Amino acid sequence: MDWTKLDWNALARLRDGFLSGNAAHGPYWTALSDLANYDLTYGERIGWKWDAVLGELLTRGWAPPTGLPILDWGCGSGIAGRRVLRAFGASNFSTLHAWDHSPLACDFSIEAAQREFPELKAEHYAPGKPVGLLVLSHVLNELTPATRDELLAVANEADAVLWVEPGTHAVSRDLALLRDQLRERFDLIAPCTHANNCPLIDVENARHWCHFFAPAPSGIYADPNWVRFGQQAGVDLRSLPYSFLVLEKKNLRPNVAPLPTDASRIIGRPRVHKAHIDLLACDNTGLNDLKLFKRTDPALHKQLDRKPPLPLYHWQRESEKITSIKPLFP
Ligand SMILES: C[S@@+](CC[C@H](N)C(=O)[O-])C[C@H]1O[C@@H](n2cnc3c(N)ncnc32)[C@H](O)[C@@H]1O
Repeated sequence: MDWTKLDWNALARLRDGFLSGNAAHGPYWTALSDLANYDLTYGERIGWKWDAVLGELLTRGWAPPTGLPILDWGCGSGIAGRRVLRAFGASNFSTLHAWDHSPLACDFSIEAAQREFPELKAEHYAPGKPVGLLVLSHVLNELTPATRDELLAVANEADAVLWVEPGTHAVSRDLALLRDQLRERFDLIAPCTHANNCPLIDVENARHWCHFFAPAPSGIYADPNWVRFGQQAGVDLRSLPYSFLVLEKKNLRPNVAPLPTDASRIIGRPRVHKAHIDLLACDNTGLNDLKLFKRTDPALHKQLDRKPPLPLYHWQRESEKITSIKPLFP
């Protein structure tokens, strides 16, 4: 598939399904070509979000245990599983298992993975096979209560979970609920800096959601194909909001990429003003609206405006005012 062969009508049909909520009413892929159209466009855009998440994990020195199978559940075109294989190296996994309630999606994912990673075994998942690394991407708002329970049961079998969802208020808060259900069995690798109850669930935090923004590849805005896609899909190509969750089974390995207990994470986009920055942060004291004055760290003020580091920090503060600050991964 390339842009010259792209079927814009098929994409429009898929978009209508995603927007109307019909995607939650059963399989909607009608042909392998639907998946190819999706993979080049919607899927690739989702891939950029995965690149941001995987980039954070690699920077922090976290990788899943080697030798596990990967299960890409709700695989669609399989973009998420392939991004994970690319990031950590296909030779570090035993097999790629694809699962989707659409058999077409499983077939497409397996074929695409075999093309990109010919040495890797790729096959359909069947219940009872070991789960290993569970990869989930943009599935949550298509699940019924029953399939959500099925998925939770699968997640509880996993050694580690990599989960990326859209950065919308509703989906991010839904993911936070699942985070609190899964944390009994799993260590929270990201985005959380602590294992307390997720503070989003507190009534006073109902307006907030835990989301981040991935950078789009440079040149996208000048590419007429991507511009047309953005217009047709109704998405802003400059804005790639996502929410995510990375879990590793407790006691699987000692001290895997732990964050300091007093680490803080900036949520969403800090609002950069001339003399200060307003930001929302999460740490073991909960969610806090804070201010960082430019004079506290002029270089970081500039960096946050242009090319922010991973949003993980160690800081001191007096009430809402940050008095000293150090990025954990400059
Ligand atoms: C928006 S697509 C995302 C596909 C892919 N994970 C990605 O990130 O590009 C959602 C996928 O979940 C699948 N799906 C929805 N409900 C499912 C269920 N109950 N069991 C398995 N797959 C499901 C759909 O068929 C579709 O392929």
